[in-house]
Formats: sequence, C-alpha cells, structure tokens
Amino acid sequence: MSTFISSWKSPSNIALVKYWGKKPTGIQLPANASISFTLSNCTTTTKLTYTEQETLAIKVLLDGDEEPSFVHKIEQFITRIAPIFPFVKTGRYLIETSNSFPHSSGIASSASGMSALALCICDIAVEKGELTENNFNRTASELARLGSGSASRSVFGPMGEWGKHNDYAGSSDDYAIGYDDIHPVFKDYCDTILLVHKGQKTVSSTVGHGLLDNNPYAEARFAQAGKNMTKMKAILKSGDLDAFIELVESEALTLHSLMMSSNPYFILMKPETLQVIEAIWKKRAEDGVKWSFTLDAGANVHFLYPQADKDSAARFIESELKQYCENGAYIYDEVGMGAERV
Ligand code: DP6
Repeated sequence: MSTFISSWKSPSNIALVKYWGKKPTGIQLPANASISFTLSNCTTTTKLTYTEQETLAIKVLLDGDEEPSFVHKIEQFITRIAPIFPFVKTGRYLIETSNSFPHSSGIASSASGMSALALCICDIAVEKGELTENNFNRTASELARLGSGSASRSVFGPMGEWGKHNDYAGSSDDYAIGYDDIHPVFKDYCDTILLVHKGQKTVSSTVGHGLLDNNPYAEARFAQAGKNMTKMKAILKSGDLDAFIELVESEALTLHSLMMSSNPYFILMKPETLQVIEAIWKKRAEDGVKWSFTLDAGANVHFLYPQADKDSAARFIESELKQYCENGAYIYDEVGMGAERV
C-alpha cells in the first residue's frame, strides 16, 4: 500500500464575463462561456497525503484544525471525478489546507480550493501512470470544474476561459484554457477586493445557478453572454479601457439582476455595495480615471484599475472606499500566473 504526497497553491479568480447558469444535462457544464482574471494573492494551499487502501476515508484540516464540514463536499467531488480516475474511489485522504484570506471574508474559497485539490490528485495520477504531463493542466481543470465550475479557470494565468465559444480556439465546456492574447495593460491589472460584508452569503452559488432554470430572462442572458465574450476578446487585445469598463460593469449588474429576477428572488448587494459603486462612478466622472468595478455572487466589490494607477487608487481606497468596508477591511490583489506546485 503506497503513500503519495502532493502540494499545490492555487489562486482565486474574478470573472469579467460571468458564468451563471448550468446546462440542463451533464455535470457542471456552463450555460455560457466565461472569462476571468486569475488573481495572485488570494490563494489556497493544499497538501494531499493519499494512502492506498480498500475503503474510503477522508480527513480535512483547515489551518491545522479538523474541519468535518468539508468532508461531504469532497466525497461528492470524488464521486464526480471517479469516472476519470477510478483509483480515487478508495484510499485514505489527509487534506491539509489553508487560505491566504480570512475564512470569514466572504471571499469564496471554492475556486482556489477545488483547483488546488484537483491539481494534487493529478500529481498522484501521474505517479500512478494514469496521466501524462501533456494532459496535466487540462485534466486538472476538468477535475476542478467538477468540484466547482469557476475553479476550472484558476489553473491558468493570466486569464482563464471556460466554455465552448467559436471565438476562443480550443475552448471547451469540459475544462478551461489559459488565455493570454491580451494587451499589456491587462497583464498586471489590479483588483482590490473591498470587503463590504464578511458574513456568509444568504444563497450559495450552486443554488443560485439552479434558479436560472425558471428565470424568464435566462435564454436572453445566455445569448448576451456569448456576444459579450466576442466583444471582450477584442477589448482584451486592444486595451480599450472605456469599452472594458462598460462591458465589465454591465456584466456585474446583469449577474445581480438575474438574482433579483429569479424565483425565489434575492439581493446579495448591501447598501455599502452601492455606495462603493457610486463613489467609483463619481470619481470617474470628475477625474476621468479608468477605474471600474465588478461583483461576484456576494456583497463585496472588486475594484479594478490599471497597475499604473496603483498609488492614486490606494489613496482613493483609503480616503473614500474604506469607510464602506466592514471594519475597514480590503485585500489588495492583481492578475497572476495561475496555480503553482509547492
Ligand atoms: C458569480 O463556480 O461558485 O462567481 O459551479 O456551482 O460551484 P458552482 O458555482 P461557482 O459559481 C461562480 C459564479 C460567479 C461567476 C463566475 O465566477 O463566473
């Protein structure tokens, strides 16, 4: 009975064109293609110690403390990836994981966490002779997708694209691809995450995706997302920041409008979310800065700006935006190069 050990550090990512809604058939296939900036500082580091045995046993340590609440999600993940790697169905798993960001920050750890675990499992599959290095990243992304859709994009930097789209060569619903056909301004774009509300979300992403099945605007949204992917490709290439701002903010507000138009409906923004948005819009109108925002499925605001504006944006955060953050908390981040073995 052999023991295998692997460790990976994998980042979070922030979608510019959003994944919201799954295909009715298949497991965790997206209703539309999406594209994200891979981040650098918000990461999960996971060490997997896997010992062959005839039964399945899973133990998860978060920051050194046993976390039984994660076990169910990991069992579900193992069931989903077993058709790809049957060996995963049995064995003793010791999963030691930690996040660079506070657990209570409201930042979802599923993208970084699921991609880190998927990468560890792929290392073991290579050692067992069941995977070649040529297919490594693609398979890791596919496994990550089965854990959490957005996790598929975290394997790659500076950007990840997931979902079949004719304008993105090699794209697939099954796994994400790395995307770097981008203007230099985007290669180190900044994303400061303003922690407006640190608590647990009232609706999980997984439940939120499901609500699109009965949303009357769903089909129009999926068509719009396809068109926005086409527009985004040209924007990323040209570095047209005015067009970038318009598309990214529209995507964020569309995501939240879908939540508001679902049944049951819900609002994940907080009053401070809108105050931050208004402050960014006011600054842009007054000073002509190319600063913008996006949102994920929560109240926090991702404040986006070019690296060249880092110092002035930092002053703006301190003087104007910080007051809307819970306990004044925010996390500075920027575009990064994807997951790393540690
Ligand atoms: C709003 O990937 O968290 O962040 O696939 O059910 O695990 P599951 O959902 P998840 O959804 C992320 C939604 C989003 C947009 C995005 O990242 O594209």
